[in-house]
Amino acid sequence: MTNNNKKVQASIVGLGYYVPPKVMTNFDIEKIVDTNDEWIMTRTGIKERRIAADDVASSDLGKEAALKAIKDAGLSAKDIDLIIVATISPDMIFPATACVLQKMIDAPQAACFDISAACSGFPYALTIAAQFIETGFYKNVLVVAAEALTHLIDWQDRSTCVLFGDGAGAAVVSRSRDGGGLLASSLGAAGQYVDLLKLPAGGSRMKATHQTVDDRLHYLKMAGNEVFKIAVRTMEKAAREVVEKAGISLHDVDCLIPHQANMRIIKAVYERLEIPKEKVFINVDRYGNMSGASTIVALCEAIEQGKVKKGSIVVIAAFGAGFTCGANVIRW
Ligand code: UT7
Repeated sequence: MTNNNKKVQASIVGLGYYVPPKVMTNFDIEKIVDTNDEWIMTRTGIKERRIAADDVASSDLGKEAALKAIKDAGLSAKDIDLIIVATISPDMIFPATACVLQKMIDAPQAACFDISAACSGFPYALTIAAQFIETGFYKNVLVVAAEALTHLIDWQDRSTCVLFGDGAGAAVVSRSRDGGGLLASSLGAAGQYVDLLKLPAGGSRMKATHQTVDDRLHYLKMAGNEVFKIAVRTMEKAAREVVEKAGISLHDVDCLIPHQANMRIIKAVYERLEIPKEKVFINVDRYGNMSGASTIVALCEAIEQGKVKKGSIVVIAAFGAGFTCGANVIRW
């Protein structure tokens, strides 16, 4: 059943995003590790990314995005019933970054939790939020995808440090006000691949010790090449599945918002889906991979640039560590 048949339609009624001001170009990274602009551009399509200052955490980025989204929705923080933060760079292992954010934005009545779905964080959190709205459990859910991921990157590992950036996006999800809304969602995971992309130390599997720090195991590790192949297959499958669930065809899609990990992955996905490049929103060149925040920041920019308008059919498709995948069809 598509969401079209439901009595209550969940919809994004407010949006906001924030990226930290500091820009790091490929030329800046050339001074840190043995790499060069040409390699990074050819292999990833990334020119530059934003970097959070040392004392700026994911909640700080998320707060800026959240306040904009709440204002855009015409609400106050006091109207928010639930805060879901999607992040793999939480302020701390616990408590939830959503609780930290709750205090920052002064939303004392909200319930709060985080989800760890990596780069699929936004489609996962949006789908969860929609369930609370469609069942009538809550009126206004604030979804925040925030990543200060460059604090967790090994700046001695050229195979990963060139890829990531920091940023945050937020959406207020409520009952549809104008007939637009979430038409369908599709979520999945493939736990057999957990070891391909992970941050090994500091949890209960491998507690933090001097040795884990010396071995740099508290930084993100990735088998990039293997991830690449799974990413292409997974995003294509997720996009096909969600479009079918919504009862539409790929030809009906006005704007595809893929996870922004690598230009070559994005290209392979839209070519396989036979969606023309003009209908695909791309900002990986300016921000790199902001993990969970990538698709929401891209959605905000697609609207700003007039690529998503009232009535547009938007498809979001993402994959990430886990390996999770998530996709949504939204009538804007
Ligand atoms: O959202 C999270 C999911 N993550 C991703 O989506 C990332 C998926 N993977 C990728 O995007 C690509 O695999 C990478 C961009 C990470 C790597 O591109 P690749 O075409 O798969 O390159 P590779 O790993 O096969 O490495 C090719 C060569 C190697 O040298 P040799 O062994 O051929 O001599 C690497 O050592 O490139 C070398 N290399 C670099 N050279 C210059 C790796 N990183 C760099 C670098 N600068 N930064």
